[in-house]
Parts: sequence; structure tokens; C-alpha cells
Amino acid sequence: MLNVGWPLTRRVIFSMDAEVAHERTLGLLSTAPRLFGALANLTMGPPPASLAREAFGVKLAGPVGLAAGLDKNGVAIPFWPSLGFGFVEVGTVTAHAQVGNPKPRMFRLPEDHAILNRMGFNNGGSEDLAHRLRQLRESGHWPACPVGVNIGKSKITPLDEAADDYRTSARRVAELADYLTVNVSSPNTPGLRELQDREPLKAILNAVLEEAGDTPVLVKLAPDLTHEAIAEVVDLAVELGLAGLIATNTTLSREGLTHDPEQAGGLSGRPLWPLARNRIQAALDASAGRLPVVGVGGIHTADQVADLLSAGCVAVQLYSSLIFEGPALPYRIHKELGALPVRN
Ligand SMILES: Cc1cc2nc3c(=O)[nH]c(=O)nc-3n(C[C@H](O)[C@H](O)[C@H](O)COP(=O)(O)O)c2cc1C
Repeated sequence: MLNVGWPLTRRVIFSMDAEVAHERTLGLLSTAPRLFGALANLTMGPPPASLAREAFGVKLAGPVGLAAGLDKNGVAIPFWPSLGFGFVEVGTVTAHAQVGNPKPRMFRLPEDHAILNRMGFNNGGSEDLAHRLRQLRESGHWPACPVGVNIGKSKITPLDEAADDYRTSARRVAELADYLTVNVSSPNTPGLRELQDREPLKAILNAVLEEAGDTPVLVKLAPDLTHEAIAEVVDLAVELGLAGLIATNTTLSREGLTHDPEQAGGLSGRPLWPLARNRIQAALDASAGRLPVVGVGGIHTADQVADLLSAGCVAVQLYSSLIFEGPALPYRIHKELGALPVRN
């Protein structure tokens, strides 16, 4: 239903400011996520059962998941699986609710199938999300596929108090989430990416692990890290017993753009693919099978997914291509994937 007439729907959506379109769509979905899910299920639906898999301590319905940032506050959780996603990541949420950066802060680059954003973790806070997750659990409407929660640092918290900020969010959501992702890689919170250095990262991961209990903890990295820095994080993650690593977040690079809008922020979508692919490989090489790797960045075809799974990724995520290709993309990719050779 929702994918029928996508070219027309896309034209209407693209005639609006990117963030206004995003807010309106999410606002609508949040009013009746299960009803919209039921409508989507008329033409889409869950991945073929043959694609289900165990990865980083959870049972994925399929290898293609929704990346963090689209549903930051988890307002439409029951809807996403009906687009065919095998797992869903909500957030980033922070310990303190915050408004994010001044608008405009989200830009579509249609010629390049790319998005530039400097949202700055606008979100209702981890307490608010925990409340919503608890309601969903208690009402019996938790989706059939895993829901992860991505946590970040509040802007008002100084960098040297970051570990406690992450700890607060982890404490609130750990027992409700199927997995946790520690986000130290968004380019839009001043200094955040310095937290990828070994010592601050160790303190943050230890704090989160102490609160996580049995909930798997992953860490999400920036594509702007060197191979050496990625290898250091992989070693640390293995040492601390993390469940996995997500590579990558958006990039500060403008490589591959036909038109640079000269706006600050992180770039995602198709131009990110070569860099993300390279850094995903660096993570896989450094891990050498010790740590599950989730690949993300510029994914829009089943061939890319097959390539990443063959290379050793346990799963992938996407965000930007959903905006350009339409809501049926994850369903389509999973369907096509069933027919492709995947070495793993
Ligand atoms: C508008 C926007 C907001 C995002 N917000 C977050 C976020 O809050 N937390 C996070 O970890 N990643 C965030 N991301 C990054 C995505 O999760 C993903 O890592 C990145 O966009 C690369 O994947 P893609 O090329 O498929 O979009 C955001 C991306 C976009 C486009």
C-alpha cells in the first residue's frame, strides 16, 4: 500500500523542507503505528524465514536493520518491522532531553542520493524513551524483531563526565532494550568523537556494561577514523567483552558529491559507501572473527548487502536510502537477497 505510488508520494515529501517532512511523517506514524504497519503488511512484510539469524546476542528476523536516528524517540516502533526490517535501532537518546542544533539542520542532496545533517541529538531524553518502551512491553505490542537503543552524550555534560551520562541512559533503558549501542561517533556534538580514544572509551563502555546486565552492548564508530584507530577500538571491545561493533556513522568528508552545499554536518547515503565499505573492512580485518561487525553507510542494494555478509558482517543497517528509494526497500532487499549467493 505505502509503496504504491512512491514516485508521487516522494515528490510531495521532497517538496517540503527535509526536517518538516520527517516530523510530519513520523508524527502521522506515531498516531497509529500498528494500523500503518498492518497497511504496509498488505504489500510488504517480514523477511523470508530463511534469512533469520543469531547475531551479537539477539535473534534477527533478517540481516537488514533500521539505522539509528530516524526514530530517535521510538514513537513508531511497531511500524518499522512491517517495512521488512530484520531489526530496529531507535535513538540516539541522551540522559537529558535536548533540542539539538538550530534549524535548518537536515538537507537532502537528491542528485547524490545523500543527506547532510547536523541535528545534534535532538531527543526527548532516555527517561521518556524508557517510559515508551515499558508501555510497549507491558501492552504486548513489542515487535517480533529486536529493538536496540542507541545512547549518546548530553550536550550539557562535560566530556570528562561523559561516562556517567552514558551510565544514566544505560540504567534507564537496558532491561527494556534488546541491545544497546554506545554512540561516540556523531559529528554534531562538540568533542563527542574524541570519546573514541582508548581511555575515555574504556570508561564509558565499562560504565554501560555495568548497567547493561545481560543486554548486549555494541559500539558505533565514525568512518573518519584511521584503520589503526579502528583496530584499537576493536581490541578494546574484545577485551571488555562487547557484543559487537557498528561501522559506520556519517562522515565529515564531502568526497563523491557532485554538488557540495557547503553546510556543516555529517554526510550519509550513496557517497558514503566507498569510505564506509573501506572502514567496515578495516573493522572486519582487525576483528578477525573475534567481534561481530554490523555494516552501515550508503547501502541501497541487495548486492551491497550480499557483499558485506560475504565479507563477514553479521548484519547491516540503512537509513538514507529509505528516504530516496521508498519504504519498500528493506522488504525488496531481503527478497532479492534470498536469491543471491552469500558466502558466510
Ligand atoms: C538525519 C540523520 C540523523 C541521524 N541520527 C543518528 C543518531 O541519532 N545516532 C546515530 O548513531 N546515527 C545517526 N545517523 C546515522 C545513521 O544511523 C547511519 O549511521 C548513517 O546515516 C549511514 O547510513 P546511511 O548511509 O544508510 O544513512 C543519522 C543519519 C541521518 C541521515
